[in-house]
This record gives sequence, structure tokens and C-alpha cells, in this order.
Amino acid sequence: MAETTPSADKSTLFSPYKMGNFNLSHRVVLAPMTRCRALNSIPNEALVEYYRQRSTAGGFLITEGTMISPTAAGFPHVPGIFTTEQIEGWKKVVDAVHKQGGVIFCQLWHVGRASHQVYQPNGAAPISSTTKAISNKWKILMPDATYNAYPQARPLAPHEIPNIVEDYRLAAVNAIKAGFDGIEIHGAHGYLLDQFMKDGINDRTDEYGGSLANRCKFLLQVVQAVAAAIGAARVGVRISPAIDHLDAMDSDPRSLGLAVIERLNKLQFELGSKLSYLHVTQPRYTAYGQTESGPHGSEEEVAKLMKTWRGAYVGTFICSGGYTRQLGVEAVAQGDADLVAYGRLFISNPDLVSRLRLNAGLNRYVRASFYTHDPVVGYTDYPSLEKGNVMSRL
Ligand SMILES: Cc1cc2nc3c(=O)[nH]c(=O)nc-3n(C[C@H](O)[C@H](O)[C@H](O)COP(=O)(O)O)c2cc1C
Repeated sequence: MAETTPSADKSTLFSPYKMGNFNLSHRVVLAPMTRCRALNSIPNEALVEYYRQRSTAGGFLITEGTMISPTAAGFPHVPGIFTTEQIEGWKKVVDAVHKQGGVIFCQLWHVGRASHQVYQPNGAAPISSTTKAISNKWKILMPDATYNAYPQARPLAPHEIPNIVEDYRLAAVNAIKAGFDGIEIHGAHGYLLDQFMKDGINDRTDEYGGSLANRCKFLLQVVQAVAAAIGAARVGVRISPAIDHLDAMDSDPRSLGLAVIERLNKLQFELGSKLSYLHVTQPRYTAYGQTESGPHGSEEEVAKLMKTWRGAYVGTFICSGGYTRQLGVEAVAQGDADLVAYGRLFISNPDLVSRLRLNAGLNRYVRASFYTHDPVVGYTDYPSLEKGNVMSRL
């Protein structure tokens, strides 16, 4: 097929890409995905196997959201990167990916108000930009596998924000100690940094609320601190201006996206070095035939927004959210993205890259095991093509 045969002058989903210092051999990226298998927050052999299975020579992987500090937790058994044991655990994962020739970034995560006292040190209220709890439309997964309402949050005082910025900085330094090639700052999906950016959540009247400049300030301070510590070329940023997950609504997603981008461009100019990439998730969850619930913007509207942001950002642009093989092929061929991150399809297809290259059938994912804790079931037991098992063609 034409699109699987790279030619010298045309980029395809399967043609090489130079992302800063990293020579990628194709454009299919593992999207960051929480999988709740790091028992007691320490990466273990199950994670080593999961990431090993999804590695390819010259392929780019982003880890699941990884806690920057003890207050960052909001799910059971997610890994951290703030203790020596956690760093040692990650080293084994990184080594396994590097052995396969892969490039791997650690996603740095603080959930903010998307937590519960049960996950917080001393049973404290989770922190946020606001006191408002996440509405009853959403429920939190508890350690005993039941679902609960989200509690009220405690707004961070302005003088506390530098401490959280410092947690991000230390987490980034730890990630480099663990051998990671870089880090991604999770500024998406209604978690802490997004809780400051979105005007549907942020009701502050201080220097972190109100104007776009004020709402973007926390994210920018984190990017600056992390870039100064480990180098801009090792830092990626993920945002989702148009996604209302966990009530993260904004009255003007287009302007919010452009405000972040304008500031990242300026920072890159000032530093004289590009960031590794900007990663934008779009609200498109129906593209696989395995329909997920939730409100969806019109396809056309969202595509226009993505093109606007892509055009405005100076540097590598990763898109994600409901990409099929065809949509990924088109995105790269049309210049709408440099790289395409795949989430759910990568959960159920450890050899997704080969399958997409061959246009082979894909295993269906099983949502019920996304967040369970078995080291194998629903995690590393999805069959690869060599085993001859193709469950369905999506
Ligand atoms: C089980 C699961 C866990 C996820 N965890 C994270 C996460 O830790 N960090 C993040 O930025 N996005 C997370 N996401 C969102 C994915 O990275 C991706 O943006 C989303 O699934 C849309 O892409 P897809 O349509 O290819 O699945 C998660 C998605 C799923 C399905």
C-alpha cells in the first residue's frame, strides 16, 4: 500500500522522524496510560514486561501518569518517582525498553482534586485551584475497587505553589536518574495543572486566576523549572484544552490552547532550545467502533482546533484521541501531526506498530480490566501476531 512505503519526500506514519536528539524510526507512540499494576507505587516486573512488549527499535513510549509526590495520588497502585525504591523500579523498566532500542519518557502527574482523603497523607483534603468538588457525574476508584463521590478540595495558597513546582523539578531529576530519556508534564484531562487552566474550575481572584496569563502561570512555572533542571530537549507537555473530563470545561478552548502555545513558543525562544514536543489530546472517543460514553464535540470543529494549535506551535506536535490506523496515516501525511499517540489500541495490541504497518487485524480491548491489579490478566496477556491470534478487525 502506498502509505506503508515511505518515499524520500513524503512523511508517513511509518517513516522516520527526528524529535530533537532522538532518531525515531516511525511515528506510532504509546500514549500515557494509568494501569494500576505498580503495587504500593513501586514499578515491578509486571511493568517491565508490559513496556517491553510495547517497545520497538526507534519507537517512542510515554509511561503511565507517575506521581511526583505523596499528595499526587488519586488511583490505587500507580507508580511514583519520588523515592529511591521507585527510581530503582523504573530503572528496570527503562533498561528493558532501551534494550529493544526504544525511547521512553516518564509522565509526571499530580491529580489535584481528582483524589480522596484515603489517598492523601494524613487523610487531608486533596489540593486544587478551588474548593469545589468534582461533580457527581464522575466517581473516584477507591482502593477496594468501589466507586465514591469526589470530596471537596483545598485551594493552594499562592505561597504553596513554588513547593509543588519544586516537586515537579525533583521528579524530573529523579526520572533522569532512573535512565528515562525525558519527561512529559501532564497538563491535561482535569488534573492539577488543568484545574488551574480551565475557567470552568479555576475561581481564584489572585495571580493564578482570572486572565489566561494567570491561569497558564502554574503550568509555565513547572515547564520552566523542569527545563532548567534537565534541559528543554527532554521535556514534553501534554494539554487537552477541549476535553471536559472531570468537569475540566473552558469557555474558550481555542484561546486557552493558543495562550499555552504562545507561552511555550516564547519560552523556547528565550531558552534558545526547543522543548521535546507538545502533545494534544482531542475529545474523540468513538472512532474504534468500541463506543465509549461521554460528550463529543463535532468532528469538524475538533479537527479545525487541532489544525489551529498545530499551526501555532513551533516544534514537534503529537496528536492523540481516537486515532485509528487510517486517521493516523492521514494525520501524518497531511502534516496535521508529526507523531500519533495510541492509547486503548496499544493496551490490547502489544505489537500495535507491526499490526498497523501490516494493516493486520486488531485485538479488542477489555475496559473492565483497564484498572485492575493482576500482573498478567488484561495487562500482558493480549496476544501478539506471532501467536496467530487476531481477535477482530476494528
Ligand atoms: C486506561 C487508560 C488510562 C489512561 N491514563 C492516562 C494517564 O495516566 N495520563 C494521560 O495523560 N492520559 C491517560 N489516558 C488517556 C490516553 O493517554 C489517551 O489520550 C486516550 O485514551 C485517547 O486515546 P485513544 O483513543 O488512542 O485511546 C488514559 C486512557 C486510558 C484508556
